[in-house]
Amino acid sequence: MRVDILTLFPDMLVSPLEHSILKRAREAGLLDVRAVDIRDFTTDRHRQADDHAYGGGPGMVMKPEPIFAAVEALAAEAPPPDRVVLFTPRGRRFDQEVASELARDHRIVLICGRYEGVDERVHRYLATDHLSIGDYVLTGGELAALVVVDAVARLLPGVLGKEESALSESFSEPLLEYPQYTRPPDFRGCCVPDILLSGNHGAVEQWRRGQSLQETLRLRPDLFARHRLTLQDQKLLGLVPPRKKRRK
Ligand code: ADE
Repeated sequence: MRVDILTLFPDMLVSPLEHSILKRAREAGLLDVRAVDIRDFTTDRHRQADDHAYGGGPGMVMKPEPIFAAVEALAAEAPPPDRVVLFTPRGRRFDQEVASELARDHRIVLICGRYEGVDERVHRYLATDHLSIGDYVLTGGELAALVVVDAVARLLPGVLGKEESALSESFSEPLLEYPQYTRPPDFRGCCVPDILLSGNHGAVEQWRRGQSLQETLRLRPDLFARHRLTLQDQKLLGLVPPRKKRRK
């Protein structure tokens, strides 16, 4: 997958892409992320990418011309982008479902806004999608772009190893992850649950599923409401009375 990130601060994007799984994915050719400096598409001596807002008010607004020019130059390269995403607090909330949608694309362009905003014509006539990573205001879209690249990259085939992939099931169902433990079995008097030391794989699986359900219900009732309980889930939550033994 190719991702072009348009920004006024390309250096902000460097380090997170140079570690761990993202680094590996890029080296393996599974992910091609390029930072594109919007200023390279300005045409004036001062490389001016922002200007005062019409109608007055504080702060600067990002100009449309260099952003349009950058996207048009990128779009001329094959294959054309599947979408052009603008990061804005006004956008659709980014979640695992959106990540899965983006992971099906071959090429996307991400535009990072800065300052007080981006000229409305970029919102209306250039961006095909508008994304927000949450109901708070960032100083710019760069961190949002990195969040999106990270969440999408791990869904690309081959990016996670087999073992990591199994763990990625967490949000394919809207349930939280079960608690994990490693050695030592007793840390300052806090012990690992006996069942995890039992070697009984079936019992461990059931315990984990029960924990996922209970933790989701406790911490994220909104997610729990979206989950369709299986009969087994209902039993684990104690919602189904145990079957009465038939009398002989
Ligand atoms: N730019 C500023 N705030 C943002 C947010 N919450 N999500 C995406 N882009 C943003």
